[in-house]
Amino acid sequence: MTFEKNILCIGAGYVGGPTMAMIAYKCPQYRVTVVDTNPERITAWNSDTLPIFEPGLDEIVKKVRGRNLFFSTQIERGIQEAGIIFVSVNTPIKTFGAGAGMAADLQYWEKTALQIREASQSDKIIVEKSTLPVKTALAMERILTATANGVHFDILSNPEFMAEGTGIRDLETPDRVLIGSRETSAGIKARDELLEIYANWVPRERIITSNIWSSELSKLVSNAFLAQRISSINAISSLCEKTEADVTEVARAVGMDSRLGDKFLNASIGFGGSCFKKDLLNLVYLCRQYGLEEVADYWEGVIRINDYQKERFILNMLDTMFNTLAGKKICLFGFAFKANTGDTRESPAIYVSRRLVEERSELVITDPRALINAQTDLADIKEKIDFIEDPYEAAAGCDAIAVMTEWDMYAELDFEKIYENMRKPAFIFDGRNILDHRNLFDTGFNVFPVGKPSLTHF
Ligand code: NAD
Ligand code: UDX
Repeated sequence: MTFEKNILCIGAGYVGGPTMAMIAYKCPQYRVTVVDTNPERITAWNSDTLPIFEPGLDEIVKKVRGRNLFFSTQIERGIQEAGIIFVSVNTPIKTFGAGAGMAADLQYWEKTALQIREASQSDKIIVEKSTLPVKTALAMERILTATANGVHFDILSNPEFMAEGTGIRDLETPDRVLIGSRETSAGIKARDELLEIYANWVPRERIITSNIWSSELSKLVSNAFLAQRISSINAISSLCEKTEADVTEVARAVGMDSRLGDKFLNASIGFGGSCFKKDLLNLVYLCRQYGLEEVADYWEGVIRINDYQKERFILNMLDTMFNTLAGKKICLFGFAFKANTGDTRESPAIYVSRRLVEERSELVITDPRALINAQTDLADIKEKIDFIEDPYEAAAGCDAIAVMTEWDMYAELDFEKIYENMRKPAFIFDGRNILDHRNLFDTGFNVFPVGKPSLTHF
């Protein structure tokens, strides 16, 4: 069969895998190949156990894999065959040298640009899918055009807005698709070619275009605004705890203002995930580079509140459990950074676990999807922790439960049974406000939600 387009994606991660599976699913007329330097990841994508858990992903991959979606480690061949190349490699925070702990580490990005340059024998459109500092496309252009072999490259920015756990729904019915291009005739022609791909399933009015720098910056700003909303409500949750106000009631009242909207106002233990902190740090670094110290400080505050929220949670546990956690057995309900994913990158549960071990608690961790990642994240203190999949077994003999992830299943557990098997007095710290607090209190628990009055028997 001949295909209308040959599309390549470099980077078979949380973004590359699902986004390309969606393109292949919606566009049987295109051949889509996803390549990665990590052979184990590619083997997993070609197996029955995909490397990531995302609701609905298995079904789509099963339908299209081998039909018009292929996973491979043959990067050079993939580059040669493709007309459009999405680049979806990881762009973590630098851990060394200038900008360590703040700036984006672009080594994977640059390596990919060099690979594309070396292997290309025909003109190509290169699509930035990874989240990148504004002006990265300029560096990409410079790298790609630094040879005189006559090959022409057009660079587009097409940031990905999907969230984990709802990735398939987000990709199938996105709020918007953003394509940034150079405003030259070649740039606009390339932009229209990418637009044609999305137009196969995304309504035209939801596909927006902009200049390339606005597109790059919009992604950082979207994540910064989302994270800011969480830090805003979390900051207010601390005030609620002092004043007997209830943060859920406050969020409802505030969110009913149509100018503000009611989403992303759930007070929590703090935000996690691979994107928010990294992208905020990136924004802060960019602002400082341009001498915008006040702006940088403003956005840095969002991270500071998030760190404060996590530490506040620990201090609250310490305070309410009679100022010592040493020897107390504490069970974490959930380890993933949010529900419906096995991903634990930057999960607040990592911080809480380390702090509890530091306080010499005995720790038990349960999670329906994230226990393997949890063991990797805590490899250096693993022997001090029990990892148990069944929540009833995990909580047995514990002094306290701390809810880290808002898995639906936790709200449906039989807490009378759990209470019977715990040490007394039994405590619940609901870091996600998902449990029925009145019911738990009536069962006998001392209950400590986020941003609401506590319910205690003493
Ligand atoms: P990931 O770590 O899951 O995947 C990246 C993959 O790229 C890895 O499998 C890695 O082996 C591969 N890779 C690195 N260098 C390579 C090279 N030179 N050639 C081939 N493969 C290479 O990362 P991710 O979560 O998919 O994120 C990718 C990008 O998308 C990041 O910039 C991130 O900020 C952005 N993003 C992520 C999300 C999300 O929900 N995870 C959402 C939107 C945007
Ligand atoms: C985020 C962005 O939402 C997405 O658009 C972008 O493409 C990637 O980064 P993700 O990190 O996968 O997606 O999940 P998200 O739903 O944004 O949650 C991030 C963190 O915030 C999680 O830890 C979540 O539990 C927390 N959160 C979210 C809250 O604490 N309260 C809320 O009201 C919402």
